[in-house]
Amino acid sequence: MHVRVLGSAAGGGYPQWNCRCAVCALAWDGDPRVRPRTQSSLAVSADGATWFLLNASPDIKQQILQNPPLQPRADGRHSPIAGVILTNADLDHVAGLLTLREQQALILYATAPVLAVLAANPMLAVLDRPDIRRHALRPNQAVSLQGPDGRHCGLAVTPFAVPGKVALWLEETAAATAEDTIGLLVQADGAGRLAYIPSCAAVDATLRQRVEGAALLLFDGTLWRDDEMIRAGVGGKTGRRMGHISISGEAGALACWSSAEVERKFFLHINNTNPVLIEGSPERRQVEAAGWEIACDGQEFRL
Ligand code: MLT
Ligand code: MN
Ligand code: ZN
Repeated sequence: MHVRVLGSAAGGGYPQWNCRCAVCALAWDGDPRVRPRTQSSLAVSADGATWFLLNASPDIKQQILQNPPLQPRADGRHSPIAGVILTNADLDHVAGLLTLREQQALILYATAPVLAVLAANPMLAVLDRPDIRRHALRPNQAVSLQGPDGRHCGLAVTPFAVPGKVALWLEETAAATAEDTIGLLVQADGAGRLAYIPSCAAVDATLRQRVEGAALLLFDGTLWRDDEMIRAGVGGKTGRRMGHISISGEAGALACWSSAEVERKFFLHINNTNPVLIEGSPERRQVEAAGWEIACDGQEFRL
């Protein structure tokens, strides 16, 4: 199985267009200890020819430019992208769907509540076409990914509910459900398992069991500490309020995953205020000492 990190930053990307917090300032000033990152997305493929996006970031066009396997190969209209699997309805995970609207056959996988909010959004009616199929994912039920033509593509995906919350833009109108935020286990025949969990509010025993034995864990690294955005003076919300566990702290990701049997562990969906973005920072060193790595755009894995 081929895995590519298309975007490793949280919503807003790194640096964020309107931010000069201490961490963003380094990127704007060209400091070599940091590198720019686009917004949260992954691409997976069994054969390197047909790809599925795990989330569709607003930066998808830039990500296609940076990742040649995702570029059109046949004359006329063509894309190696067969479909998109969504882990929630957050803007950084769905806004790229608008870019995928140009008469391209696709299949869209998401839980029923996420498909429902997309269907209710008039702007996304551009995707209401017979050649754009939808498939409702049910937690704990494995699906064999199909292309829009019904062909099986050699990847099995098992979605599972994770502690999270309804998308920010839906907070006023939608009731929270257990299927608002999912993680994905992805596996090709005979290959190691990928666990992809870009948004997660807490890590409990059930989640740890699910991920046990995975070859690769790509996990929510939004914030280093819960009140980081408030301390940086760029926002009023804590990580908890946004449905994101912090990396550090007693109930943080490092502590909760410390005994997990996983071959490689990476943080992604990293917010622009997070000091782990800075190579050599004390926080980055702490993450590395705990056996974690920081994902970056363009990174490739073979499982
Ligand atoms: C999040 O990860 O909390 C969301 O992407 C926030 C947002 O919609 O900007
Ligand atoms: Mn996000
Ligand atoms: Zn910033």
